[in-house]
Amino acid sequence: MKRSVIQRTEMLGAKLNLGGPPIELDEYMTTGLLAIAVGPRGKGKTNAGLVMAEQLSEQGWISVLIDPEEELESMYGEAVKDAQELAKHLKDRKKPIVVVTARDVYEFLPYGNAILDAADKYRKPIFLMVDEGQLFSQNKRRKDGVGEASDLINDFADRGRKRALDLFLTAHRYTGSIHRGIFNNKNLTLVGCQEDPTVWSSLAPQFRQSKITYNDLNALSTGEFFCISSRGMEKIKMPMAKALKKVAPAAKTVKRTLPSTFRQWSHAMRTIPTERLQALTDPVTNLLGAVAGLTAQQMLSGSRALQDELESRA
Ligand SMILES: Nc1ncnc2c1ncn2[C@@H]1O[C@H](COP(=O)(O)OP(=O)(O)OP(=O)(O)O)[C@@H](O)[C@H]1O
Ligand SMILES: [Mg+2]
Repeated sequence: MKRSVIQRTEMLGAKLNLGGPPIELDEYMTTGLLAIAVGPRGKGKTNAGLVMAEQLSEQGWISVLIDPEEELESMYGEAVKDAQELAKHLKDRKKPIVVVTARDVYEFLPYGNAILDAADKYRKPIFLMVDEGQLFSQNKRRKDGVGEASDLINDFADRGRKRALDLFLTAHRYTGSIHRGIFNNKNLTLVGCQEDPTVWSSLAPQFRQSKITYNDLNALSTGEFFCISSRGMEKIKMPMAKALKKVAPAAKTVKRTLPSTFRQWSHAMRTIPTERLQALTDPVTNLLGAVAGLTAQQMLSGSRALQDELESRA
């Protein structure tokens, strides 16, 4: 069957507002959207997907939310009861956001096939959010359902471009979680707070050009991400999805009390007059350290930092 070259006209003038300057989707006209959000539990990945789903659904997409944790029905209505019902929604396009409950790969497969089918047949914009992507897409070649689901998701990613199928996956880690092919082809990346320093080695290549350090990542609060798009990298504070706002409290932005980057540290130091630093004699710091419950190691690095600062001002 001959097919005309797909024109993603819905991308023209469409925008995503993720908390930074709006992302113009014109830039994704030829590639489609392959977005991922990486971060540990509770840092706002699901919310990020919901924000995109809500915004795209207002601009002509049908959003399909794959919901393994059964947390989305209370916000977006009852899940479809089977793949036929999903297929019907994708055909008549009356319901802008459709929830699919799939607790494991076996439950996911019929829905996944229905989505690929509809994308093939109608070529009308679909936004597919696969929450907890590691459940459905893995790196190792496997012959069971997980292998099949991974192949299907890779298919979405590979063929989505020509079928108006845009994709968003969440993952907890960068390596060994979702399929490498997804990471290689992604074109919108959200990296959330990382508390585990061992993941830095896998993230570092992303940040090499940007001078962002592990401490910058570590200092991100819930809902804050480094957003890497065709425009480059920027730090964003994601808004809350409308439906989530109704049922969940906004996380408090945690202000770090201690400087966590060199720049912050140096800035904080500069605001302290030399006389005050000189007043920090051993008995004073010992007392303060005891009150704060600092370890001998922390006391030692503190007194070294103080000495360095005073020497650099001399
Ligand atoms: N942008 C945001 N601004 C303020 N609060 C937020 C934001 N995003 C999420 N939250 C709060 O954090 C909670 C957890 O968010 P979310 O469920 O999106 O995290 P998650 O990364 O998907 O976690 P998990 O890995 O456990 O699924 C939300 O219920 C909400 O209270
Ligand atoms: Mg989540």
